[in-house]
Amino acid sequence: MPQAQAQGLPTATTGDITPEPVREGIDLIVNGERFRHTGDPLMPLLWYLRDVLRLTGTKPGGAHGEGGSDLVLVDGKAASAIKRPMARLAGTRVTTVEGLAGDDGRLHPLQQAFIDEDAIGCGYCTAGWLIAGVDLLARKPKPTDEDIDQLPNLCRCGCQTRVRRAIKRAAGVQA
Ligand code: FES
Repeated sequence: MPQAQAQGLPTATTGDITPEPVREGIDLIVNGERFRHTGDPLMPLLWYLRDVLRLTGTKPGGAHGEGGSDLVLVDGKAASAIKRPMARLAGTRVTTVEGLAGDDGRLHPLQQAFIDEDAIGCGYCTAGWLIAGVDLLARKPKPTDEDIDQLPNLCRCGCQTRVRRAIKRAAGVQA
């Protein structure tokens, strides 16, 4: 008799242990590169980006994405990376702040506008603002202050006024 069975422990032969099902990979594109996730399908995208791909620009905010620092673009639309499990990302295109610049290294107009308007304090919230701003400019090429104020992002360094100016400046550049 196997030792584990003799000790009353569950063994594979007793039928007490259910083998883990073989996991299919979850294929997705991040910043133009293909990746396959074969780990826990319930892993939040935020941790996949930060801990697996080492793309640490996207930051944890609240457990439910409060503050917007965890925003990324999923198929071109702003989405919370903490609320989105990997299982819901098969076949999607994810863009993080690291993917906003052009292939030639030129900053996205909104990134440049943040620099020009000095809209960065400690920087913790900046990636989230940039993603939300890119999404907003795609939906509303001439956003109002009210449109900007409705974004879910927060800045604890008090940069909101300069962020507004930066988004409007980028809107002017893109027009
Ligand atoms: Fe520090 Fe916004 S720049 S939280």
